[in-house]
Amino acid sequence: DVYGPGRKNSEGLDLSIKAVRDQLTAAVAKLDREELEAGPIISGRLEKAGAFKPALSPSHLSRTLGRAWQATPAQADTAFAAAHAAQPGWDRRGGEGRAKVLRAMGDALETDRERLISICVREAGKSYADAIAEVREAVDFCRYYALLAERQFASPETLRGPVGETNQLSLRGRGVFVCISPWNFPLAIFTGQVAAALAAGNGVLAKPAEQTPIIASEAVKLFHAAGVPEGLLHLLPGDGATVGQALVSHPGCDGVAFTGGTDTAWAINRTLAARQGPIVPFIAETGGLNAMFVDTTALREQVIDDVLASAFGSAGQRCSALRILFAPHETADALIDGLKGAMDTLVVGDPADPRTDIGPVIDTDAKAVLDAHVERLAAEGRVLRRLEVPAGGHFFAPTLAEIPDAAFLQKEVFGPVLHVVRYDPAKLAEAAAPLVAARYGLTLGVHSRIEAFADEVREAVPAGNAYVNRSMIGAVVGVQPFGGEGLSGTGPKAGGPHALLRYAVERAVSVNI
Ligand code: SER
Repeated sequence: DVYGPGRKNSEGLDLSIKAVRDQLTAAVAKLDREELEAGPIISGRLEKAGAFKPALSPSHLSRTLGRAWQATPAQADTAFAAAHAAQPGWDRRGGEGRAKVLRAMGDALETDRERLISICVREAGKSYADAIAEVREAVDFCRYYALLAERQFASPETLRGPVGETNQLSLRGRGVFVCISPWNFPLAIFTGQVAAALAAGNGVLAKPAEQTPIIASEAVKLFHAAGVPEGLLHLLPGDGATVGQALVSHPGCDGVAFTGGTDTAWAINRTLAARQGPIVPFIAETGGLNAMFVDTTALREQVIDDVLASAFGSAGQRCSALRILFAPHETADALIDGLKGAMDTLVVGDPADPRTDIGPVIDTDAKAVLDAHVERLAAEGRVLRRLEVPAGGHFFAPTLAEIPDAAFLQKEVFGPVLHVVRYDPAKLAEAAAPLVAARYGLTLGVHSRIEAFADEVREAVPAGNAYVNRSMIGAVVGVQPFGGEGLSGTGPKAGGPHALLRYAVERAVSVNI
């Protein structure tokens, strides 16, 4: 059952076990001895022609991981043609046939887990805990979408009609999807988008983030080895303005799945609107201006743990991450003191060291934006605490700051910066007004022992994912279907029971005999 007890999530690895930590550090050491390669994979072949860029690690600026070749417009033409040729056969395999392949992919990811984790650590700067979660989520997406393919795509649904007439509704693939994925979940979201499009019967041209082509190449190789036809799934690395734009504007594109910034989503939407040809669906998962509301009944120690995890975990580079903490006037000072003390215990550094809590931010551009933001906060005297960080990588000091209200932030700040706003829980609507006016709607946190207060917050602040008395990150496939509203995205939610529907067309057939 999609919701029920028959379904299990992937278990991952237990980092508290020394043997596991040793295994992972050994995997990273082994990776460090390799010269890695990534590039366009067109019909199963890695194409090493044209321009390449060095593949970089955000935590070790003095060395490169290998080389990453960039896709060309001619490769996009070839890939679309091959995917369109292969797609009808894949669609005809039906939900059950496709589910077998996706399950094989889930198993392959688990088998190859140490290597995938080590690439996430080196290429994306993920901590071991985050990299383990990354592989788990990728596995879960494959298995969950396999289940949906069987439930929703295996046989048509029979609908009621007049006597003597048979009415059936079936779901089929749309054609070829373009999947554009981000660097912050370079395996999980990459795999999730591709698995969803494939599960629904489509071919795929996937463009990973320019920062993380290596892990995406590994995933595509595994998809092919698991039984996805080589002509059906292609990898086209490169930057958004050239490769992304070429894929989205191509007449062969029958739909787009995108996760990334809201600005990019607008640009893709404009490109799709200007196309002549089929009107195609656009599934976008973008940013958030995520808040947590605490009242005076909340358990302080629990709030501190959950705030730290939500704001600074993954170096704040999650679209779900906490950006604004609303602290009640009465307890704000104590809460801020507690947060400062707890922050001081966080270890920022090399993600390949198992003691590290917070790794680097992804690149120079990301760091520059964060630097400018914190310089402004500092110039205005708003910084309450900043941690020390090592040199040698794009490390950014986790920062706690106080701001007068949510209107101070117009946009998502994508990194480990937590803003505190003091407020009166009795005047919730007033405090929440600027947040609601910004029109994001991704995650929302509440800490309170009064159920009515949690309900009031959820009514006041629209959000796709609300979390009460826990952290507000780490949605689990099939448990917390993930995705936002408004500026935060279009839905359907990733890892939820409706995830595949927009990847499909619906066909109704009425037969009179
Ligand atoms: N799905 C992730 C989370 O819930 C964010 O992309 O944290």
